[in-house]
Amino acid sequence: MLSRRNFVTGLAATGVIAPRLFIPTAHAAEPARFDDAVAAAGRAKQATGAQFWSEIQQSWAVDRTILNVENGGLQPAPAIVNQAFFQAWTKANEAPSYTNARVLWPQVEGVRARLAKAFGCATEEMAITRNTTEGFLAVALGIKLNPGDEVLTTTQDYHRFHNDLLQRQAREGIVLRQIKLPSVPAEDIGAVVQTLADAITPRTKVILLSHVFQLTGQVMPIREVVQMARPRGILVIVDGAHGFSHVAATRDGLDCDIYATSLHKWLSAPHGTGFLYVRKELIPTIWPLQPPTDREPTDIRRFEAIGTASAAPYLAIGAALDFWEMVGVERKRERLVWLRERWVSRLAGLPGVTLNTSRKPGFAGAIMSIDLAGLPPPKLATWLWERHRVLVAGVVHPEFRGLRVVPALYTTEAELDRFADLLLLARKNGLT
Ligand SMILES: Cc1ncc(COP(=O)(O)O)c(C=O)c1O
Repeated sequence: MLSRRNFVTGLAATGVIAPRLFIPTAHAAEPARFDDAVAAAGRAKQATGAQFWSEIQQSWAVDRTILNVENGGLQPAPAIVNQAFFQAWTKANEAPSYTNARVLWPQVEGVRARLAKAFGCATEEMAITRNTTEGFLAVALGIKLNPGDEVLTTTQDYHRFHNDLLQRQAREGIVLRQIKLPSVPAEDIGAVVQTLADAITPRTKVILLSHVFQLTGQVMPIREVVQMARPRGILVIVDGAHGFSHVAATRDGLDCDIYATSLHKWLSAPHGTGFLYVRKELIPTIWPLQPPTDREPTDIRRFEAIGTASAAPYLAIGAALDFWEMVGVERKRERLVWLRERWVSRLAGLPGVTLNTSRKPGFAGAIMSIDLAGLPPPKLATWLWERHRVLVAGVVHPEFRGLRVVPALYTTEAELDRFADLLLLARKNGLT
């Protein structure tokens, strides 16, 4: 068979001017033999560190004049995701009644299938939502609870969700009970599960638990809690806002029945995207927040009836999934822990430094809560922002206080080194 090289050489030999072919250097240097290929693969592996991550970091068009370690609320999307979003947005505007409604929305079914695969559930158990809040509220306000029925949660769960349930308490007489976990951080999984189990009463119908606590980054033992609660007939609603695409998060790994997450956090999908997983048998037992007129009670799409909306953000979830898969699911997870360790290892163990997050494997991802003695977190956060353009959250909770530090995949080593330098400076000299 005529190879490309022979073909091009052959053209030159006949005097025919060959077209200008763009051949990337990597192709020109393709190893000819198997041994060379193995050696090249070894070299490539060594190079993955710096070069691979620097290319990943450059996939985001973020403002690097700000050192942003406040990626807990909302993360930026890589340029390729924004491009997919704008492409769909533009298409939608060509003839909206046709292009948005009849061309683009049907394509969202492909995104549903991919999200279901990534989470490890059936396509028919996956609802696409605008955020965790939308998914959580569909379930928390849509399940049947009688006056006196109890929802059990912890003092570290998302404050807003407590308020949502307090409305049910005021309106319908359900009871919201918040309990303290044994310690911060809580490194004894058995003790965590037992503390919840001990708080259960005959009226407990629901447990609301974060997969990852927002303020400390502690990963909760969801699987163990579900397996403790299920035989007692208690539904566990998992608030997965900080779980999916950050720490290990699959349906079977967690063995959960309900999981609501935001994709604009750790997946870096467009802002206003999330998903709600509902185990198949439970779908008909939950009343949707916005009643869908034409859906069967078993149809997961009944939780998506939000009226006219753009398909663009949902479609661009596909590009965010591509990006994640390209990085590698496990590799991303490991990288996020590595980024955390890059800065925290320089402070851990120093006098006056308290970590509210465990560094033991499996207990946290990228989020870390750190307290420096004598430096109130809100003041330290203000000093970092006003004097150094470092964006970070200062947290004061009745059980702990600290800076909540959240790097993301786009954060560079140099940024984290500078961040650690600044904390060491503040620790030594105060907020001067
Ligand atoms: C633990 C937790 N749950 C839920 C939410 C709500 O997420 P969203 O505003 O994307 O719905 C957040 C937001 O930061 C959170 O930290």
